Amino acid sequence: MSGSARVWVRAAVAIAITVALVALLALWRPSGLYLWLKAAHVIAIIAWMAGMLYLPRLFVYHCEAQPGSGQSETFKVMERRLLAVIINPAMVASWALGLWLAWDGGWYSAGWLHAKVLLVLVLSGVHGFLARCVRLFAADRNPYSQKFYRIINEVPTILLIGIVILAVVKPF
Ligand code: HEM
Repeated sequence: MSGSARVWVRAAVAIAITVALVALLALWRPSGLYLWLKAAHVIAIIAWMAGMLYLPRLFVYHCEAQPGSGQSETFKVMERRLLAVIINPAMVASWALGLWLAWDGGWYSAGWLHAKVLLVLVLSGVHGFLARCVRLFAADRNPYSQKFYRIINEVPTILLIGIVILAVVKPF
């Protein structure tokens, strides 16, 4: 099996195990389940955000590498793996756990949650854009400058600040 196929298999197995564990816990419903799944939600968010902050940084350095050079090929592998193994599964887990918390906690009509979901949708859009950049870099067709990626790098941070304040302070 090739290196990249192995990475995809590992990511698929990790997602399947997580989904199975969450389904098992939701059926079994041990006491304190809500808090355990909230902890899992925060862990998934940390993994998602770590990847979302690191990927544009990789793009900044990738812009300096000559297309076709060994350095450029190494960046391609790093970007593809970061997206497939960390960022994508962590986003799925963050959404799944967040929606479960909203349903189980009866938060659906809360204003802070509506505002939060709006910001998370924007964050998911940035995620989709970065995934497209990974594909463009992989084809040596990156159209954006280093400065552009430095600016894009700040967007997830700004969204993160708003989302965490809404989730923790619940101002409305
Ligand atoms: C659309 C996806 C998401 C939904 C539906 C969602 C929903 C929720 C819900 C219902 C809670 C429980 C609130 C409580 O029990 O007090 C929660 C907790 C939390 N969420 Fe999310 N969330 C989502 C994504 C995110 C993201 C992307 C972040 C950060 C970037 C985030 C950060 C947090 C934090 C820090 C907490 C803990 C709040 C506390 O215990 O005080 N969530 N989320």
